Amino acid sequence: MEDEQRVITPRPRPEDGGLALTLRPRSMSEFPGQDEAKERLSIFIQAARDRGEPLDHVLLYGPPGLGKTTLAHVISNELGVGIRITSGPAIERPGDLAAILTNLADRDVLFIDEIHRLNRTVEEVLYPAMEDFALDIIIGKGPSARTLRLDLPRFTLVGATTRAGMLTGPMRDRFGVISRLEYYSIEELENIVRRSASILGIAIDDAGAHEIARRSRGTPRIANRVLKRVRDYAQVRGDGTIDRQTAGEGLDLLGVDPLGLDKTDRGLLEAIVGKFDGGPVGVETLAAGLSEEVETIEDFYEPYLMQIGFLQRTPRGRVVTRSGYQYLGIAPPNGQRERGELAEGDRDKPDKPDKPDKPGPQSRLF
Ligand SMILES: Nc1ncnc2c1ncn2[C@@H]1O[C@H](COP(=O)(O)OP(=O)(O)OP(=O)(O)O)[C@@H](O)[C@H]1O
Ligand SMILES: [Mg+2]
Repeated sequence: MEDEQRVITPRPRPEDGGLALTLRPRSMSEFPGQDEAKERLSIFIQAARDRGEPLDHVLLYGPPGLGKTTLAHVISNELGVGIRITSGPAIERPGDLAAILTNLADRDVLFIDEIHRLNRTVEEVLYPAMEDFALDIIIGKGPSARTLRLDLPRFTLVGATTRAGMLTGPMRDRFGVISRLEYYSIEELENIVRRSASILGIAIDDAGAHEIARRSRGTPRIANRVLKRVRDYAQVRGDGTIDRQTAGEGLDLLGVDPLGLDKTDRGLLEAIVGKFDGGPVGVETLAAGLSEEVETIEDFYEPYLMQIGFLQRTPRGRVVTRSGYQYLGIAPPNGQRERGELAEGDRDKPDKPDKPDKPGPQSRLF
């Protein structure tokens, strides 16, 4: 609940609406960051174009707000084909999927957001569609039933998910390209902020862009939103130009500290320290302690705290690291282990086997 009120939630907020579309890069060259994913995709796109074939199916995964949907549009633009957009929960029955697939044009992109939420019966229809560009339709019932194979246009499925670990094995195996989007560096976010400012006609200097970038949690969606809010501050309290001071003061006023953390982040860390001795604490217990949903904690609260090394997932639960304690200004208990000093067995193991994993599957491509 609380997450939706945060200025720095990585989820879309109502005020992002029109902004998202205006600021969305349309081509690879306009798209700052994600160099690895971009380079691989550019090669495959060019090869597919040159051969007049559809691009292999692409799975994009990673935390919210990093550009999965944006990249899907970029892919269709660069391929010079159309894009049809839908999402896992929107495709309720196999017939819904069949209607979408039969209406595609040759080599079109079909973008399925939240693809981990497709139901199994729909997934079964999708498999032959992805593999053979065909639909198997069952006609009749009982012993006289027969299967009819219907040819489909050749298409590229681009799937997006924040939870790659929740995809079934057979689904995952049908993607030829699997790319994990990473948090952006401060320099990359500075570029994004400067680009957005110029599109929106906002005056900003380099130090101002830097200040917004470093407090935007590696996430373009947050950077763009914060830029707009800070513009208001600069207009009312300054001379309209965003510089280091107006950016810093504006963000302080919004409750976003120099590391991009807010009271929800501190509340989570403090709860683990105060109620659970710094951990390890299981996510269900933590969720109950914070009156939050497990999914909200896993998808929106934890990823960035882990990225900056304040929180760790171990097989026994969540642990606040020494840097996390330092950030809170609380002395870590004796023997508090630091990132990198973990016992061998604890290192990088998710506490559930189906957690989003490291970029692994993509290594089979190059
Ligand atoms: N590389 C980028 N450069 C500039 N702006 C970007 C970039 N990536 C994303 N954005 C901006 O951030 C916003 C969020 O991106 P997008 O909707 O593609 O994220 P997402 O990964 O699909 O998020 P979700 O998981 O919530 O669906 C977009 O509106 C876009 O304007
Ligand atoms: Mg999206």
